Amino acid sequence: MGYFTLPLAELVGPTGRVVAVDLQARMVRALERRARRAGVSELIETRRCGTDSLGLADLAGCVDFALVFAVAHEIPDVGKLMVELAALLAANGRVLLAEPSGHVSAGEFAASIAAARSAGLAVEAQPALARRRAAASRRSRGAVSGLRSPSRGGR
Ligand SMILES: C[S@@+](CC[C@H](N)C(=O)[O-])C[C@H]1O[C@@H](n2cnc3c(N)ncnc32)[C@H](O)[C@@H]1O
Repeated sequence: MGYFTLPLAELVGPTGRVVAVDLQARMVRALERRARRAGVSELIETRRCGTDSLGLADLAGCVDFALVFAVAHEIPDVGKLMVELAALLAANGRVLLAEPSGHVSAGEFAASIAAARSAGLAVEAQPALARRRAAASRRSRGAVSGLRSPSRGGR
């Protein structure tokens, strides 16, 4: 963990925040170590989630960009994952879903995209990434949050 989180922290800069979520404590600890070494700890909030939920309801409607990289296939209920992602997004927020093509077949990825659409995400592009299947989405117009009402948090 950290391969994307550290560059994202540099991108958001001092007024932004990156929230990094993982099931495993050791992954979260490794990211925290790397963030300290890179001097970007202040920009990164780490959280552990449970198997069946990202546990980010407090961020509903607040997320500008969600990167779901090589993790959706690990999550037991992709439909619920997509509902949670759709609810997290701010009005112009985007999700980039990327899965390893070696582990996730075209049919399995298509099922994830169908789940995203059912959750109110509109797929805008399927960018070509090496050894990945990828889809960029945003909230469909009129989509309703599946989590509790947006609370504008912030640091
Ligand atoms: C292949 S790694 C990808 C990690 C990171 N996204 C990256 O690209 O560097 C898959 C990660 O998914 C996490 N994971 C597995 N099941 C999960 C779940 N139900 N909810 C959240 N994360 C989960 C694992 O702990 C592991 O760190």
